[in-house]
Amino acid sequence: MGTGANFPYYPGNLAVTAIDFSRGILGQAQRRAAQLGFPVELVEMDVQSLAFPDSFFDTVVATCVFCTVPDPRRGLGEIRRVLKRGGRLLMAEHVLSKRSGLRFLCAFLTP
Ligand SMILES: C[S@@+](CC[C@H](N)C(=O)[O-])C[C@H]1O[C@@H](n2cnc3c(N)ncnc32)[C@H](O)[C@@H]1O
Repeated sequence: MGTGANFPYYPGNLAVTAIDFSRGILGQAQRRAAQLGFPVELVEMDVQSLAFPDSFFDTVVATCVFCTVPDPRRGLGEIRRVLKRGGRLLMAEHVLSKRSGLRFLCAFLTP
């Protein structure tokens, strides 16, 4: 969940569980949730090793996360495991372009 920048965009009638593996970030998200009155369960957890049962969630949302996950395949495998059959995975992530010119530009701008 990072600092909880997405919290204002969730509809009110959902049970939301949010994870991050950084304790410092969790504190910031807690403050934001309190300010917004957003009822979210915040958990310190690594997406590569989720402590949720199989087929637990209707939907998983990840925004700007997988660029920093050390083993993204493992993280995605865990998400697949905890998603219900027919559940939805919503992602907004940035990746390296397949076009070499753009790839070079990205690497140049973000060494
Ligand atoms: C760029 S921030 C994006 C935060 C939020 N999703 C958003 O869109 O505002 C990336 C977040 O992913 C978290 N993160 C990175 N690797 C993680 C992992 N393996 N498990 C859980 N959280 C992770 C970082 O601690 C950081 O808060």
